[in-house]
Amino acid sequence: MHSRITGTGGVLPGAPVTNDDLVARGIETSDEWIAERTGIRSRHLAGPEDGTASLGAAAAQKALAAAGVKPTDIDLIVVATSTPDKVFPSTACLVQAALGVPTSAMAFDVQAVCSGFVYALAVADKFIRSGSHKRALVIGAEVFSRLLDWNDRRTCVLFGDGAGAVVLEASETPGILASALHADGSHAHILEVPGNVRNGAIAGAAFVHMDGQAVFKLAVRVLGEVAQETLAQAGLAPEALDWLIPHQANIRILQATARRLGVPPEKVVVTVDRHGNTSAASVPLALDVALRDGRIKPGQHVMLEGVGGGFTWGAVLVRF
Ligand code: UT7
Repeated sequence: MHSRITGTGGVLPGAPVTNDDLVARGIETSDEWIAERTGIRSRHLAGPEDGTASLGAAAAQKALAAAGVKPTDIDLIVVATSTPDKVFPSTACLVQAALGVPTSAMAFDVQAVCSGFVYALAVADKFIRSGSHKRALVIGAEVFSRLLDWNDRRTCVLFGDGAGAVVLEASETPGILASALHADGSHAHILEVPGNVRNGAIAGAAFVHMDGQAVFKLAVRVLGEVAQETLAQAGLAPEALDWLIPHQANIRILQATARRLGVPPEKVVVTVDRHGNTSAASVPLALDVALRDGRIKPGQHVMLEGVGGGFTWGAVLVRF
């Protein structure tokens, strides 16, 4: 038994907020600095009516429609998020209720920050391959803007909100060919939100704190390594890759990863320009764009890669 991605969906809340819009809001930055250093041109920011669960459910509805699957056919929901609407219940349970997925299903969240979607996809693949589940919704959903200090230009210009989802179904033909997941908690301090809920209040800083250069170096190294590891598992060379979809954090990280793998830039799917770093949502958002615009064709090999706080990283190699 194998698992295959049979539908995808993506949602970005509200209108795009450009780099110049941020300057107009009083942030001491420029379109030139942000575009040159990160490739980001705009991002979407959730309004008061949006939440991680509502965005995740909306992306899931699009993925279900694309796959031709009803919510009542779903037996597993895995949501990757670091910005849940509530401490508990999980976002996955809120999505289940919103979509009307029956109680025969299991639902839980995965917290691996920007690697969350590849973690969630690899986990769902293992449930399906074990034979215990047949049709999963795997969702990456974030309202990362809730964690941003708008007085910290080193971080606030980088992130955005959104959600992406896939339907993953049991199949006799392999779709997910290989996956590898890693973590190294000794790097926890270079990318973190240290605050937590205590005695009815937030204890500690509840804003994103990042050592950008340390994250950059680590990200490029591990994205290259884990892609090689996943290809080796599947017995494929980098030349066999039709598309590379790394976590959309920074165009320079995407380009450096591709160079390390010997993958030409035109095979890298880039959407970071239009939504910034949406953490766990970034990979499924980029995948959805490249499937819907016809770039990814049946039979092609696509490498999905994530890296983020924890530190966590991973890759999933997919044949469409
Ligand atoms: O999911 C993983 C999430 N994180 C990432 O992927 C981030 C990885 N890191 C990066 O993408 C880059 O390190 C950044 C984009 C965050 C920063 O780029 P950098 O080339 O490493 O810049 P830097 O931190 O060395 O800062 C260079 C200068 C500094 O000024 P001085 O000290 O040279 O005078 C900063 O104060 O740029 C300044 N700067 C800004 N200027 C305008 C920092 N942020 C801004 C800003 N606008 N928004």
